[in-house]
Amino acid sequence: MPRMPDAPAVLVIFGASGDLTQRKLVPALFSLHCAGLLPEKLEIVGVARSPLTDEEFRRRMLEGARAYARLSPGQCARWEEFAPRLHYRHLDYEADESYQALRAWLEELARKQDVGAEHARRLFYLATPPALYVPIIRHLGAAGLSHSEAGWTRIVVEKPFGHDLASARALNAELHHYFAEEQIYRIDHYLGKETVQNLLVFRFANTIFEPLWNRTYIDHVQITVAESIGVGHRAGYYDQAGVLRDMFQNHLMQLLTLTTMEPAAAFDAKCLRDEKAKVLRAVRPVDARRDSVRGQYWGYREESGIAPASRTATYGALRLYIDNWRWRDVPFFLRSGKRLAQKTSEILIRFKAVPHLMFELMEGRSLPANSLVICIQPDEGFHLHFEVKVPGAGMLTKSVNMEYHYAAEGIVLPDAYERLLLDALQGDASLFARADEIERSWELIDPIVAAWDADEVPLYFYEPGSWGPAEAEALLAESGRRWSLGCQGG
Ligand code: BG6
Repeated sequence: MPRMPDAPAVLVIFGASGDLTQRKLVPALFSLHCAGLLPEKLEIVGVARSPLTDEEFRRRMLEGARAYARLSPGQCARWEEFAPRLHYRHLDYEADESYQALRAWLEELARKQDVGAEHARRLFYLATPPALYVPIIRHLGAAGLSHSEAGWTRIVVEKPFGHDLASARALNAELHHYFAEEQIYRIDHYLGKETVQNLLVFRFANTIFEPLWNRTYIDHVQITVAESIGVGHRAGYYDQAGVLRDMFQNHLMQLLTLTTMEPAAAFDAKCLRDEKAKVLRAVRPVDARRDSVRGQYWGYREESGIAPASRTATYGALRLYIDNWRWRDVPFFLRSGKRLAQKTSEILIRFKAVPHLMFELMEGRSLPANSLVICIQPDEGFHLHFEVKVPGAGMLTKSVNMEYHYAAEGIVLPDAYERLLLDALQGDASLFARADEIERSWELIDPIVAAWDADEVPLYFYEPGSWGPAEAEALLAESGRRWSLGCQGG
């Protein structure tokens, strides 16, 4: 990761007493600090309702760094040097005076950094519950904190970005009232994952795959994002959201987009996001009754905070199509769920079968088509499955697997938040979602949510630790295909 120029800047995290700050944001900032990638003059200000002192805040953050940082304080003895960069300010999210006080305090901090108010460089990070986004945005605007005359002001918005198209549009409108689109960084942490970015390098820095990357050679594509954990302590949020809003609208749609987009002219925010938005526009609206399966794991309703008769889906599978020259009629199968057999995220490209086979097959064997598997997590890498000759007499074939995994080189990949925080500080929005991408993906997801809510699609129950409802198999089986995993077997 390139180091950013060392101009003084301030990162203000709203929701600093929450989970995300302790588990993800500060551990990522500490790892960047340890790796020498965080600008020396960056101050980090946590802001929330709880009345904490700087010392209390730092202690909490140290616990978070110990438990979750890639480079934990055990491995990197630089906490004492990092801790003074952390500050805490108590704030009433709904009160004007609180923002005036914050502004005065930030100006004071800027003076200590030797920066005049007009040169302030500020990154606001919304890590609060989403209901607070609008009040914070409005108050920042009203307090004159949404722009900087000669420096810069940016705002990072966490997911969920709206809970449907109408609310996403309203949130975009609210943001655009105070901030220009270039100032807005809508986070999807999947875009910060190394192998997700590598998907672009793999496709567009090689000549050998791209000519095959189309309807002529690809039979179908599977995208699996499976989790072994349940809803945990996020029951209140999850029971309202469900898997379509929680995982499909953002992470799975982003993976689909990067797998299917056309090459961009350059790796920059505009070119990249233009191509992503273009392919999203070509996704055919899903016929939920025919092309979706929804499931809920047994025991979900008994979990604390879940409505006893909840019909929220913890599993979803979709078949969808992209109506353009490259992908017409190629089915894309997407699935995601909680309490599944293992945690794995992967994209499987299944190529077409050879048109005519001149070799004999071993008895009982049908010739598997080639496949390429992109392993996103937990063991990031690539697998290519192809046929070779069985040694000896005759011309029998067997499948082999050629693979590359980062871990084999001893590489520990940075956490997604490390990359994304640094990009936002550097003003690079390439790996953040633009307003039109978000709105289009809600436009695609909303009708499926509506069909599920209206019970037009049956709710199937599945055993925790399984691969979801058996009915999800039928989605592929009816065309002679089946779900497969290529990264860890299964
Ligand atoms: C979040 C979802 O966006 O992604 C969670 O809200 C989910 O429900 C998480 O567990 C999965 O992220 P990762 O990086 O562990 O695959």
